[in-house]
Amino acid sequence: WWGHVDPAPKDPILGVTEAFLADPSPNKVNVGVGAYRDDDGKPVVLDCVRQAEARIAGNLNMEYLPMGGSNHMVEEALKLACGENSEFIKDKRIAAVQALSGTGACRLFADFQKRYQPESEIYIPVPTWANHHNIWRDAHVPQKTYHYYHPESRGLDFSAMMDDIKNAPKGSFFLLHACAHNPTGEKGHFPFFDMAYQGFASGDPERDAKAIRIFLQDGHLLGISQSFAKNMGLYGQRVGCLSVLCDNEKQAVAVKSRLQQIARPMYSNPPVHGSLLVSIILSDPDLKKLWLKEVKGMADRIIGMRIALQKNLEKVGSPLSWEHITKQIGMFCYSGLTPEQVDRLTSKFHIYMTRNGRISMAGVTTKNVEYLANAIHEVTKS
Ligand code: LMR
Repeated sequence: WWGHVDPAPKDPILGVTEAFLADPSPNKVNVGVGAYRDDDGKPVVLDCVRQAEARIAGNLNMEYLPMGGSNHMVEEALKLACGENSEFIKDKRIAAVQALSGTGACRLFADFQKRYQPESEIYIPVPTWANHHNIWRDAHVPQKTYHYYHPESRGLDFSAMMDDIKNAPKGSFFLLHACAHNPTGEKGHFPFFDMAYQGFASGDPERDAKAIRIFLQDGHLLGISQSFAKNMGLYGQRVGCLSVLCDNEKQAVAVKSRLQQIARPMYSNPPVHGSLLVSIILSDPDLKKLWLKEVKGMADRIIGMRIALQKNLEKVGSPLSWEHITKQIGMFCYSGLTPEQVDRLTSKFHIYMTRNGRISMAGVTTKNVEYLANAIHEVTKS
């Protein structure tokens, strides 16, 4: 029956973790996957999560959630994305459902897009999270790309991006990263924001939602994927939210019912535990305050590691410019390392990262930063 099935290629991100785990070297460093680590390189469970868990211990039943998930969690997630006093929430214009973290929210939206805008395409930035391509491919939505990264400056290619947006057919769908990208406009395109790192760019979730708030103020209809994997450290709980802003309440009711209908044969209804944690933390003023402090702490540690990595590269005598390490924001550094240089980092120094040169700054610590800088210098020397 299955003789014709070839093994799947390794996932470009999660495959790196597999290779890292299989390496017995005591010096190994994992700067592949985007998962926060403390300064000892250990995974972190936030205090606010531990306290929320203590509150639900014993009181939790294991009943199914509705197909659209926990209404309480969804309400809190919407306030976090759109603002506490958002008129769109009050006017009930947002169709929102709990989703299986960011991947699940994007996939649900992609399936919805295919079903109700079957001729449409999705414009995806270059580069983007590798899984975005898989998600829209499996939903059978044709993909186009738009310029985002400028290799020479290792920054944003704003004019090329604006040209791509202007040249796209009217009513195109654009995938944007909420905490870093900020374009589109006059052509009636539909912006879809993937907000996987709210709080990780600036340390302040309110500030990181700015792009979405501006688009809302400007009168765009839009979609949002939210994940609580990174900013609450709830990676394996798979908790997130998909929201679609509609013209009116009637439309929002219809859209939500369709999202639920799409979810039903895929996974029936989303898991309960993570959604309880998120709703408790966001609705309790003390826990929310603690969470904001903890998010800032994580973001600050990453910023500190950016400075340390740049300084160490200078210290080991690298003549190249590494300013982009501190100029870029968020969990990752798009280093500019080539796939061949990355391969040498892995084979010679046991340093694991994706072959596009992305360094997860969350995996850098005061203990490994010098080793990492030295290895980067070694592989970039001409
Ligand atoms: C990443 O980009 O490393 C994370 O979002 C983890 C993942 O699922 O790819």
